[in-house]
Amino acid sequence: MSDIKIFVNEIEAFLKKNNWTPTRFGREIAGDPLFVFDLREGREPRSETRNKILKIMQEYVGEEEMEPLRIGVAGLGTVGAELVKIIQKDAISISRKIGRKLIISAVSARSRSKDRGVDLTNIKWFDDPVALARSEEIDLFVELIGGEDGPALAAVIAALSNNKPVVTANKALLAKHGVSLASVAEKTGAQLGFEAAVAGGIPVIKALREGLGSASVKRTYGIMNGTCNYILSRMGEEDISFADCLKEAQRLGYAEANPTFDIGGFDTAHKLAILSSLCFATEIAPSEIYIEGIEKITQSDIKVANDLGYKIKLLGLAQRAEDGMEQRVHPTLVPKSSAIAGVDGVLNAIVLETDHVQELMLLGPGAGGAATASSVISDILDIARGTFVPPLAVPSDELEPYKRAPMREHEGGYYIRFNAKDVPGTLGVITTSMGKQQISIESIIQRPDLQAKNGSNGNENTRTIVLITHETMEQNVRQALSEIAKSGHIVGETQLIRIEKL
Ligand SMILES: NC(=O)c1ccc[n+]([C@@H]2O[C@H](COP(=O)([O-])OP(=O)(O)OC[C@H]3O[C@@H](n4cnc5c(N)ncnc54)[C@H](OP(=O)(O)O)[C@@H]3O)[C@@H](O)[C@H]2O)c1
Repeated sequence: MSDIKIFVNEIEAFLKKNNWTPTRFGREIAGDPLFVFDLREGREPRSETRNKILKIMQEYVGEEEMEPLRIGVAGLGTVGAELVKIIQKDAISISRKIGRKLIISAVSARSRSKDRGVDLTNIKWFDDPVALARSEEIDLFVELIGGEDGPALAAVIAALSNNKPVVTANKALLAKHGVSLASVAEKTGAQLGFEAAVAGGIPVIKALREGLGSASVKRTYGIMNGTCNYILSRMGEEDISFADCLKEAQRLGYAEANPTFDIGGFDTAHKLAILSSLCFATEIAPSEIYIEGIEKITQSDIKVANDLGYKIKLLGLAQRAEDGMEQRVHPTLVPKSSAIAGVDGVLNAIVLETDHVQELMLLGPGAGGAATASSVISDILDIARGTFVPPLAVPSDELEPYKRAPMREHEGGYYIRFNAKDVPGTLGVITTSMGKQQISIESIIQRPDLQAKNGSNGNENTRTIVLITHETMEQNVRQALSEIAKSGHIVGETQLIRIEKL
């Protein structure tokens, strides 16, 4: 809906609710008795006038209703500044949903003088986020500083221990301290909301905690990092190298100056750890996740995968295995016909495979100020309504201890790309070693056209050989690759990518 349409709706709702005439509204609020009539005829006021009128309307709303909910926001960066902006702009429509006004009453950030594009007049400033978290002048504390320890952790503990509900978007903090923070929240009865911590604007936490309350999750997987998905999508759509795509992602603001956290798979791992605790009622265990990033994916891999009917995605995947839990983050070949293969660019998607609902895919923006702030507001609204659910869906002392299933026992199909010496016998060495490990080969192709770009040292004639295997054990594949490497027929590193049946 356009801004002007929302504005008109706000006024019409105000007139109806308060039983005011348009003339009274014009006189008392807009300073022009004909204002509403002109508006109805399609004359659009300037945005400053609209903002002024919305602000005056807010002062009328809810005067006789419940006390306003006073929010303290620590961190006024990408998400924090957007949160303040949205709450100020949409105060009336939000308060109508909860029967109570929301007010940003105090904030904290490092630099007081920085222009953040938001109006901080009449909002109290705290240099220390912990002091803000403890302040008697707020009813709810929002942590948008970031970082797994430091001021974010100190402030969240301070708020919860003082019986103040907390909303945070901080996946690093939750991944490391989620269970202990949930336990503090349960003891004090202060709600802990973290919808924004997993997949930004996608309401997956609420879906798991409440919407799918009775369903049992069998497997979850998804694309949880927009930077990686953008890079892999661009490499596939245009003939651009990983390094050039990364530079472009940094230029567009999708990737940090230091991109290791994203492209190395660590950001996805934090989100997966939180998600899998909610799915399987186990303790959050980020250090138990098998992690591989996308740095080694080449244009050749993307091209060959495409020709074979697959796309390459960085997936986070968690499921129960026979001897424990399996949590892994790595580049994965997914069939082009699968729904997840169609999720391109900076979008995120999370699939939940459950008993009753079968398969559910949630798709949307996984980052960005407005999308993330929207999830923060969703938690704030729940708290304002007085909803309390255990933060991790079940009480923290009932979470199962985490037991990791050995990764080498992972069973699946594999994509294997060799840079092989162009000498007689090479193919035989490869197929014999595979056969010895009982690995059955689904297809084998040779791509002379990809030689120059896949790591040949330039001194030898090499050819690209790609194998797709049927389902097999990872340890058998690794054993075969080690034997093939020792044969002297291979140049450089062999690429191994898991194929997931989706
Ligand atoms: N950005 C996204 O798209 C996104 C998506 C999902 C989740 N998140 C999560 O949301 C959180 C915030 O992310 P962001 O992108 O908004 O970060 P950001 O832009 O770097 O903003 C961080 C804010 O924290 C303030 N800050 C840093 N240290 C502080 C301290 N000691 N005391 C008080 N304030 C302090 C900074 O103050 P100054 O401005 O004065 O330096 C800044 O305003 C992170 O946990 C992040 O993982 C972000």
